[in-house]
Amino acid sequence: MFKITEKKQLNSTTFSMTVYAPLTAQNILPGQFVMVMCDEDSERIPLTISSFDKEKGEVTVVFQAVGASTLKLSKKNEGDYLAHFAGPLGTPTHLDGIKNACVIGGGVGCAIALPEAKWLKEHGANVDIIAGFRNKELIILKDDMESCSHNCTICTDDGSFGKKGFVTDALKENILKGTGYDCVIAIGPIPMMKAVSRLTKEYGIKTIVSLNPIMIDGTGMCGGCRVTVGGQVKFACVDGPDFDAHQVDFDELTIRNRMYHNQEKHDMEHMCRLFGGAENV
Ligand SMILES: Cc1cc2nc3c(=O)[nH]c(=O)nc-3n(C[C@H](O)[C@H](O)[C@H](O)COP(=O)(O)OP(=O)(O)OC[C@H]3O[C@@H](n4cnc5c(N)ncnc54)[C@H](O)[C@@H]3O)c2cc1C
Ligand code: FES
Repeated sequence: MFKITEKKQLNSTTFSMTVYAPLTAQNILPGQFVMVMCDEDSERIPLTISSFDKEKGEVTVVFQAVGASTLKLSKKNEGDYLAHFAGPLGTPTHLDGIKNACVIGGGVGCAIALPEAKWLKEHGANVDIIAGFRNKELIILKDDMESCSHNCTICTDDGSFGKKGFVTDALKENILKGTGYDCVIAIGPIPMMKAVSRLTKEYGIKTIVSLNPIMIDGTGMCGGCRVTVGGQVKFACVDGPDFDAHQVDFDELTIRNRMYHNQEKHDMEHMCRLFGGAENV
């Protein structure tokens, strides 16, 4: 059992949860994730490690309550226990040699991108962060993003905070200013990662994305997380989740992620009847 040592609500549907998991905390590298089970009979869900404290043995995940399992997780509180918290899993992001990076996060993807930005800044790289949210109310981790970067641009789709528009608008502006990025890291919704990838391909900038296919075991055994990268089949849980964006088949990923849509909708409606939405925590 894994004790929740801290829980914070970051916006109406997003939560930060810190868990005492000393073995996991000792071995984490940026880009890795954990498989979490709320209770013994719960579904396993993958969540990326947003931060960790080796001395305290604590690991923090930031998650959005989008469906039945994440809604159930959002109902757990400080002092409660999680049945399973297995990790670190996945191949760490290859960050060595990057000197001038633009790290892009979309929504909860900002939390996932933070360890990369932090590592790069600590290892002497210039780091710009571009973070995108639909509106001001949804902004999370602003202070953390500012401290992990040299320049942090926050964009909102409706212009209610920061720069109005999409992250790709801000990225294009930065590229045209001659920032000379040697790598772009983009983590967020699939359409956002696809749009960033299309733009950086045009300018020949190496781009890494963190893919989020449906994962079941998280250890390379079930094949559930199959993605196509460079025409080859890869298992995101062991070969990734980070991949060269310019090689990823985003359309296939979109289709595969919708496979269980009806079942997910049904389960979410059931959980909402039991607990109410994430707003009623
Ligand atoms: C490597 C990886 C890291 C992730 N890190 C984070 C994170 O740090 N924070 C965060 O908020 N979300 C993260 N996700 C997505 C998160 O796992 C899903 O939101 C969660 O599993 C949804 O489950 P649900 O039952 O609440 O929702 P559901 O209603 O079941 O699903 C909602 C959507 O989530 C996705 N999803 C559902 N089940 C899974 C599954 N078993 N594995 C992967 N995706 C699934 C599907 O796209 C689905 O349409 C990550 C996904 C992957 C693959
Ligand atoms: S989740 Fe089963 S092979 Fe990746």
